[in-house]
Formats: sequence, structure tokens, C-alpha cells
Amino acid sequence: HKVCKFKNDLPIPATVNVRDVVPPFNRVNLTVEKTQADLGLKYCDGSNRVFPKATVYGFRLEGESEVHSPGPTFLAKEGYPISVAFDNKLQGPHLFPVDISIHVPYVVRKDPKARPIVIHLHGGHTEPRSDGHPEAWYTKNFAFTGKEFNLDNFRYNYSNTQDATTLWYHDHTVGLTRLNNYAGTAGFYLITDDNEQDLIAKGRLPKDKRTIPIMVQDKLFSTNGQLYYPGVHGEPLSPFANVEIRPEWPNPTILDEFFGNIILVNGKVWPRHMVSPRVYRLRLLNASDTRSYVFKFETESKAPVEFYVIGSDGGLLNRPTKVKQLVMSPAERYDILVDFSPYNGRHVFLRNEGADEVFRGYFNPKLPTPNDQAKLLVYKKNENWFLFQDIGKKAPPTKVAREIMRFDVGHNLDQRDDYFEKDCEPNCIGDLNLSTDTHLRNLPTLPELVDKRRRLSLFRVSDNEGDTLSDGRSLLMLGTFNIGSLFFQDKPTEIVEVGATEIWEFHNPTRAAHPIHVHLVEFSILNRQQAFYGELIMKPQVNPSDPFGELIIGARIDPKEFKLTGQKILPQPNEAGRKDTVITLPGYVTRIKANFDCTGIDCTNGEYVWHCHLLSHEDYDMMRPLKMYESPL
Ligand code: C2O
Ligand code: CU
Repeated sequence: HKVCKFKNDLPIPATVNVRDVVPPFNRVNLTVEKTQADLGLKYCDGSNRVFPKATVYGFRLEGESEVHSPGPTFLAKEGYPISVAFDNKLQGPHLFPVDISIHVPYVVRKDPKARPIVIHLHGGHTEPRSDGHPEAWYTKNFAFTGKEFNLDNFRYNYSNTQDATTLWYHDHTVGLTRLNNYAGTAGFYLITDDNEQDLIAKGRLPKDKRTIPIMVQDKLFSTNGQLYYPGVHGEPLSPFANVEIRPEWPNPTILDEFFGNIILVNGKVWPRHMVSPRVYRLRLLNASDTRSYVFKFETESKAPVEFYVIGSDGGLLNRPTKVKQLVMSPAERYDILVDFSPYNGRHVFLRNEGADEVFRGYFNPKLPTPNDQAKLLVYKKNENWFLFQDIGKKAPPTKVAREIMRFDVGHNLDQRDDYFEKDCEPNCIGDLNLSTDTHLRNLPTLPELVDKRRRLSLFRVSDNEGDTLSDGRSLLMLGTFNIGSLFFQDKPTEIVEVGATEIWEFHNPTRAAHPIHVHLVEFSILNRQQAFYGELIMKPQVNPSDPFGELIIGARIDPKEFKLTGQKILPQPNEAGRKDTVITLPGYVTRIKANFDCTGIDCTNGEYVWHCHLLSHEDYDMMRPLKMYESPL
């Protein structure tokens, strides 16, 4: 391999501790800036040549000189709201090719050097004007602003009304989210609460110094050490690309996927980290554009290392669940425990068991849909799930991205410094006062009474067979089961009463798994059920984001062909807590239940969004408004 692995120490992002801070001292000021960063790219040919530093976007805390990329980790606490300003200092051409034929801020069409941003706290229970709506973007000095921006919201209020959980913040600018995030605008936001602090005090969870945030991203690099993002005609695509750029497409063009061949953790290439032979808590975040991972831990002799999931997007589970592997789509978080104590003096690797070439999702072959089965190649056998790749197109059999990082288990790095009465014997997990029977949390209950059920759908409007789009590109869209595909700027259809409890069904007649994220709420996954969707009905529609208003084709599910074909499958044990992002499987309907509660924040008439969190899909119209209203009664 040309690029060295495990030569970089894992960076632990700087922290902003706002726990127990009360107004007016709860104000955090950051700037978003461009900087040069050593991402850890190193030649492995013994030449000692180094790559130049890479230009990235990052966050600078007021009064400090360093620009952090990824951004600093917020340490927040339930009940202690904070206010944050992200001052946009970016200007000059974007680091990556911008497609202005899609729905982007109008200022980018007028002035290609304008650099709008808007930061969203992902998973936050946040008032609408502080939620970082895709149209609430702003350029340097607020010279230009989007239509959802209002002047006093250059400070955001983060309510911190949620139980302990792993959130993250990232750019959400319409049509530019994938590029701004690829440049580095993302960071962790950890909320703690009394229950979690009590678990730590009782030795049930590791202390902060044995808690490590792990942000995983795949990237491509050019030979001069710069981040590379495809999209310009004639320039290279990803080695895993399942796409080609046609001459009639805009230049540059958005692509509907991004796969990198080099993995960064917390902004460093294939790092290593020294740990004591004890239990560590890892707060995993997949902050990649399109790549899903199947995470596994292994020793150098390939012996599997089992681990425990204790939480996910929406905080702690009821109790720890033991797993051998973990499927993670973009934007999902899992809070896990790994016991390094049996591996003193050895290495433990975090590996990706997902397909390198094209990992489009996972699929349960026991219940294949008739129309998908013929197109599937079983790629790799796992315990319950099969990974698949599309055999309709050829992907090169490249072997990359298996290792994610290495843990070097050292002697006596961290002497046992705490003593507590253990009540978990004989089943304690390592040195913790915890077993899989230990109660971690009472999940907040969702009301039994359901106010509304919605049938929503995902669509790929594709030219594969019939050249139906005006320029032959595929478009990814969301919509409703009855109306069919809709653009982001089409009229809202998800208009939800404040306080309502709703069941949302996501129908997925596409051939890929898509992680669907709903703002404002933490939901529970009810079940998944296989369905037959047949051929979609094509429906003519004008693309409102296209300045020339060309006719393109939308899609709709044929209700005469649709049928449910499988049993309801309960969520995986690791998915059984609260979530804000759910993997919707191809050929399945995925049902979630949420209470659109606005306690502690005013969401009346609030504009939020729900969308696919594959960033290349989100930017390519796989996003819809979510509007809140207060009943007049
Ligand atoms: Cu992580 Cu709407 O975003
Ligand atoms: Cu998608």
C-alpha cells in the first residue's frame, strides 16, 4: 500500500465544556474558517516523503488561534441550555466542484466565490430558528442570507432538554451539504444527565478519560495530499464508482454517491490509539457521505472481539446488548463498550466488514422481493444479514478500507483508580460494575394513542432504461405513497400538529438502503416489512429548481401492484432505543413512531426537514419539509 496505516495517533477533538454553565455564561462563539491540516497521509515506501498539508474547513473558538477540524466536542448537560454563534469567515472558491444546476443558494449562482453555510445540531430538540434549516444559510458578515434566515438567529439556542446522548453538528446548506461536510464542518455534541453521571459514579460506565469519540469518514486524496471530490468532466471518479459522467451533464455535476478509499478517524488517516487493558466507551459516529460500515473488532490473529452496545442516536438503551458486529449508515451513532483487558500488550483492530466496492445496503435474503432478487448478488455472508452489490454494473474488485483503526493495548497505562462494590458478579463486563442485566435507563414512553399515520416513500427517478430525465441523470426523491415523488421545494405534505404522536411508514421501492433522518424528534423503530412494489408509474412533472423549467419525469407507486409480502421484523437489539436516523431497506416498508413534542421550545409554525442522510442524496433532492402547527382549539 502506498499510504501508511497506523502511523498517526488518534486525535481527540478539543472540548467545550458547557455542563453546569448558566446564562449569561452559556454563550459559545465559534468561527467557521479555512485552514491547513495534517491529515496524516504518509508514503509507505521508505522514502520519508511527506504529503503537503490539506486545505480543510474547521471551527475556531473565540480567543483561540487553532482551527479545529473536526470541530470541538461540546460537553453539554440536560437542563443547561446554551447559545452558540457560528460566524462564517469562509470566502473564495469552494474546495470542491459545485454543481449549480441543482437547488443551491441563489448567491452561489450569482457569485461563485460566495461560501454560504448553516450549521445544524443533528438529533437536537431545537427550536426552528436555531435548527439550521437548509434555507437559513448565510455568507460572510451575513452579506447574503437564505429565505429561512432571520437576523437574530445568528445565535442558536440549544435547549439541551434531552436525556444523555451522542449528537453531532454539521453543515446543512441546501445543495452544498455534502461538499461543506467533506471539507470538515462537523463535530460531536455530547449531552450528559444525572442518570449517566450516576452510572459513571457507580462504576457502571467508564469515566470520561476512557470515553473516546470516534468519527469515521471515507475520503479520496489527490497525489499532492489534498482532499479530492469527483464531479468535473474528465477528472477521475472514485475507484468504487458505480457511475459515469455523461457529456450532456452539467460540468461540474453532482453524483448520486461518494465512496472514498482512505478512512479517517477524527480527521486522521488510519490512526492508532493507546489504551489500558480496561473497558473503554467508544462513541461511534459514521460521518461519511454514502458509505455504510459493518464494524467489527478483531485481534491481529483475526480472533473476534465481542463488544456491547449501550446506546444509539437517542441515548442509552434499557440495558447493554452484546454484539459481534454493528451496521452503521451515515449519521447513525452507537455508544459501545469494548473490553481490552484480555489483550494486554497486543493490538485490537476496528475493522469494516462491509463490502468495499459498493456497499449499497443490507438485505435479508430469506425474504427477497421478486423484482430485486434477480438483480442481487450475494456478496458476503454474515450472521443474519447479507451484503449485496448490484451486478448490473461492474465495480472493480478493489480491496481497501478494511481496517479503520488500531488500538494498542498497553501495560499499566492507567492503574485502577476506583473502587466500588460490584453487584454484577459473576457476569461483570471487564472491570465495570455492569452486566447485560444492568438497567441503564427507562426509555421515555411514547403515547399509546396514535394521532396520525403517514405513508411516505423514497424514489429513484432514473434514466437507466428510458432516458426519462432531460439530461439523463438519476434523481433521488422523497414523497408520499399516494402523490409520488416531490422536490424539496414542493409544498409541504408533512404538516404535523405540535404534540402529536405519529407513525411514519417509509416505503423503499429503490434498490438501495437509505438512512432516513427526521429533525426535532427521537423516534422508536416499530418494525420492517417486506413489500412488493412492481414497476413505478412515471408521471410528468416540472423541476422547479431547474432555471429552464424542463419537464422531467416523477415516479409513483402503482397501488394495484403494491402488496405487503413478509412478516413484520422487529428492530435489531441495538436499534431498540430511541433513534433519529433509521436504515430503510430496499424492498421494505420501515415503520417508526414519534411524538412531535415541543416541551421547552416553541415550535409553532416551525419549518424543519426530514431527509435521506446519504449526503449526496440529500443534496440531490432527497429531502422534504416538516412543518409544525399548533391546533387552534
Ligand atoms: Cu444530520 Cu438534517 O441532518
Ligand atoms: Cu438516499
